[in-house]
Amino acid sequence: MAVIIDGKAVSAEVKQRVANEVAELKENGIECGLAVILVGDDPASQVYVRNKKRACEACGIYSAEYRLPADTKMEELIALIDELNADEKISGILCQLPLPKGLDEEAVIARIRPDKDVDAFNEANVGKIMIGNYSFLPCTPAGVIELIKSTGVDMTGKNAVVIGRSNIVGKPMAMLLLHNNATVTICHSKTQNLKEICANADILVAAIGRPNFVTGDMIKPGAVVIDVGINRMDDGKLCGDVNFEEAEKIAGYITPVPGGVGPMTIATLMQNTVNAAKLQAGIK
Ligand code: GUN
Repeated sequence: MAVIIDGKAVSAEVKQRVANEVAELKENGIECGLAVILVGDDPASQVYVRNKKRACEACGIYSAEYRLPADTKMEELIALIDELNADEKISGILCQLPLPKGLDEEAVIARIRPDKDVDAFNEANVGKIMIGNYSFLPCTPAGVIELIKSTGVDMTGKNAVVIGRSNIVGKPMAMLLLHNNATVTICHSKTQNLKEICANADILVAAIGRPNFVTGDMIKPGAVVIDVGINRMDDGKLCGDVNFEEAEKIAGYITPVPGGVGPMTIATLMQNTVNAAKLQAGIK
């Protein structure tokens, strides 16, 4: 049976480190603040935003929340971002995705000042991640790397397979695994021989957004299996992209859903907010 990777415990350690850093900065007159913008009333986004606010409170980070109606105009959203870009109390800005139809996500991301872009979504930050010299870690992929490190498994030379090629998770995930010296394969909906490729993975990261997609026969015995999926089922329960019951019998280490990757994404966001405050204060 696989060892369950406890995302709540690992994230608590990261948040404690962040809280210490926030307190130290405060002593030196530097405040950390995060602005979160939520447009519309997507239920999953509301849960994420609530959890982000709680994490800020736990770390001593000032948090400001902006809830806008689904019919918000692009000009209004851009005006708010401009205001937050100029606000000295705000170190980091996060606009929760997906945005309602009619709003241009790319333009919104591009409008956030690169040194306040704590999601690391805009072009400048994505480019820095590619090069390997960055101030902001992509939140979910960085959380996954921490979870893999927590197992003690060395990524060097290992076959790492990422299923999913989104800009938020799949692509930056592959890049961080590469920075950690893994041999990386990115799979997606058009990949041939998906099962065989996955079954050869020492580290398997599932980020497809399809419940129970990864079955036991796709897992190499002893592999580290990381489930990024958070799918809400008809009965209201959360379900990952990995069939947990099958996978835990074969994997060496596995993350649960919930309580695996989710808390780590938020912990990295807290770290990025501190990094943003330091960057703006000319520290580092
Ligand atoms: N929606 C799902 N994940 C994320 C994330 O990490 N950041 C933002 N801004 N929106 C998301």
